[in-house]
Amino acid sequence: MHKDAPVGVFDSGLGGLTVVREIIRQLPEENIVYFGDTARVPYGSKSQSTVIHYTEQILRFLYTKEVKAIVVACNTVSAYALEEVKAGVPVPIIGVVKPGARVAAHATVNGRVGVIGTEATVNSGLYSSYIMELAPDVKVFSRACPLFVPLAEEGLWKDPVTTEIAARYLADLKAADIDTLILGCTHYPLLRSTIREVMGNSVNLVNPAYETAVELRRTLEHFDLMRETGLEQKQPSYSFYVSDDPERFRRFASGVLKAEIPAAEKIAIEEY
Ligand code: DGL
Repeated sequence: MHKDAPVGVFDSGLGGLTVVREIIRQLPEENIVYFGDTARVPYGSKSQSTVIHYTEQILRFLYTKEVKAIVVACNTVSAYALEEVKAGVPVPIIGVVKPGARVAAHATVNGRVGVIGTEATVNSGLYSSYIMELAPDVKVFSRACPLFVPLAEEGLWKDPVTTEIAARYLADLKAADIDTLILGCTHYPLLRSTIREVMGNSVNLVNPAYETAVELRRTLEHFDLMRETGLEQKQPSYSFYVSDDPERFRRFASGVLKAEIPAAEKIAIEEY
């Protein structure tokens, strides 16, 4: 496998760009190919068999780009499909749930951790099981927050409507006296300041993207796949693919990545 080959990152749509942002911050030399399944989002309310089917198609697409490793940026895919498909994947593949659970298990002081995510992620119970494997005494409280995804995509990152909905969703977690809250969905880091306002300063907010990028570095080092730029200072290349309107994607991506990004290309994912 070539060290210059790109890292493939995929998500059900736009939200996985929060993971790309973190990978670029921590591994600025790596080339990235991103696929966002913008035509079929959301995955969070779909069945496990559908999410697995979509995941297999996306993996086949990423293989055509000769990726050297794959990051499943989507919490729903990480929770519903990763374990099921990973044995057949010919390159290293990591998800976001295990890294996020690891950080939370180590961060909690009072042993009470909250998890918010899509219905699928919460129903899978995977965050809870990973946390309990690492720290059996920790109590985990989970809550699905389905409206957070459209609110984030509408750009209502800091808005009274978002604050009101967050207050309702998070009331039980506040009452449960958690000291650590996992933002277990790609979009939720965009609502961080609203979630912070509602939960208060004493609750530690965990963005799994950070630890996922750390794990990606460890994985690339382990397989001797880190890109070497050396003296040539080769600029990394970023390519974006979507299954629906590329222009909407570009606008959102420029906001999340705080940079002008190359035009995304629309592909027919159902043909893979
Ligand atoms: N990317 C999904 C996740 O992280 C959120 C959007 C969706 O439901 O597809 O779970």
